Amino acid sequence: MSKKYLLPYELIEINWRFWSFLVVLAAGFGALIMFPLLQVNGYIDPFYSPTVLIVPLPGAFRLTCYAYRKDYHRHIFRHPLGCRNPDRGETHEQPYTGERNAVFQLENFHRYFLYAGIAILPFFFYDFYHSLVYSGVFILRLGSLVLLANALMLTAWTLSCHAFRHIVGGNIDCYSCAYGGGARRSVWSIQSWWNSHHEQLAWISLFTIIFADLYLRAVQAGLPVDLKIF
Ligand code: FES
Repeated sequence: MSKKYLLPYELIEINWRFWSFLVVLAAGFGALIMFPLLQVNGYIDPFYSPTVLIVPLPGAFRLTCYAYRKDYHRHIFRHPLGCRNPDRGETHEQPYTGERNAVFQLENFHRYFLYAGIAILPFFFYDFYHSLVYSGVFILRLGSLVLLANALMLTAWTLSCHAFRHIVGGNIDCYSCAYGGGARRSVWSIQSWWNSHHEQLAWISLFTIIFADLYLRAVQAGLPVDLKIF
């Protein structure tokens, strides 16, 4: 009888991509722990605001995002079968073994991690708001705009999620017969447009949150980057 499922460790082809992925991940988390930055000059670092302190939920939400799944299934796990590409020198010798092992099961929880992702969005806007009042006076600095851009990109990425598309417009045969009818269809149409850009938003929002952290570290290091706008 042929074996139906791969064990988790059998999924992972030990290759340079896999190891470099682990090294980058470990270096990133290591740096966050070793060089914590909670607040500097009235800014709250998005990595340490209440939002991300409730890791692993936001982390799991991002890790199970379809945009990243595509990449790690293709380039790291090379599984399932359709993710292997002979043009990249990858063979199809390994048989198809199904898509029901622990990794795929965990990915299915993405639709629930979405709720955590939505719940933490207001905190990123709070970080922006908090940065506008420094030493008791209203002030607009470049760093505030960085935090605002971060909040907006995280919101755009979260609300363009495929699971969110299902929440607003899925499971309906007839909009005019359903609760919320036309309004729901309008929301679904707008969300569908965002959804078609979801992959780009996933990468841009990852970049903005890392950039915001690095920006605040530059401020903390005393670099003259934090321009006052008014
Ligand atoms: Fe990317 Fe849901 S599919 S966040």
